[in-house]
Amino acid sequence: MTTELTGDLSDVLRNRRSLRILDPEHVLGDAQLARLLRAAQWSPSAGNSQPWGFLVACRGDETHDRFVKHLSAGNRSWVPAASAVLITAHQVASGPEDDAPAFSDYAMYDLGQAAAMLTVEAGLLGLTAHQFAGFDHDGVAEEFGVPEHWRVTTAIAIGTYGDPSAADPALVERDRRPRVRKELSEFVFAGTWGASAGL
Ligand SMILES: Cc1cc2nc3c(=O)[nH]c(=O)nc-3n(C[C@H](O)[C@H](O)[C@H](O)COP(=O)(O)O)c2cc1C
Repeated sequence: MTTELTGDLSDVLRNRRSLRILDPEHVLGDAQLARLLRAAQWSPSAGNSQPWGFLVACRGDETHDRFVKHLSAGNRSWVPAASAVLITAHQVASGPEDDAPAFSDYAMYDLGQAAAMLTVEAGLLGLTAHQFAGFDHDGVAEEFGVPEHWRVTTAIAIGTYGDPSAADPALVERDRRPRVRKELSEFVFAGTWGASAGL
């Protein structure tokens, strides 16, 4: 395990982290929102199946009000301040239509990748994107009429960094914790699974 990010890495990835202190006044404009979703739109997917869906909740709108009541206790302390929350879903079966495209086994992988593209685009725009899964997925699916062949998967809180001096000290402590990662040698192999690639 390491807590040090050493070696070359682009600034947008080096500086990314899942922050919780968000500016409750920041408003995400439609142009930026569309740009984030366009990053997901142009993500690769198996057979170009594009098996992702996003439900947009902007702070202050009705969707947002209906979403926040489904948050887990841990996420209720910071998610409501986000400028927008993008609730993600991936397809888990073919739709009921006669001409429904074939369902791909890689749908969750594809959604995750689209979310990653969106997260990087957010970083390039000076926004923070914090992905989270701590909410009542079934409750959200029912609340928003998500069809059976889609599964609510995660949500992404979008915002800008807030003022730590005005924030809950527990959130400040959480945001300042060192980030920890496995070493490359723990998950990058060569020759035989488990044998270090020497990187
Ligand atoms: C699928 C998924 C679920 C997550 N769920 C939560 C969550 O419910 N609450 C939260 O605060 N962070 C959540 N996170 C953020 C992770 O805790 C975070 O990405 C991880 O600790 C690494 O930190 P970093 O993103 O700052 O590098 C989630 C991230 C992912 C990808």
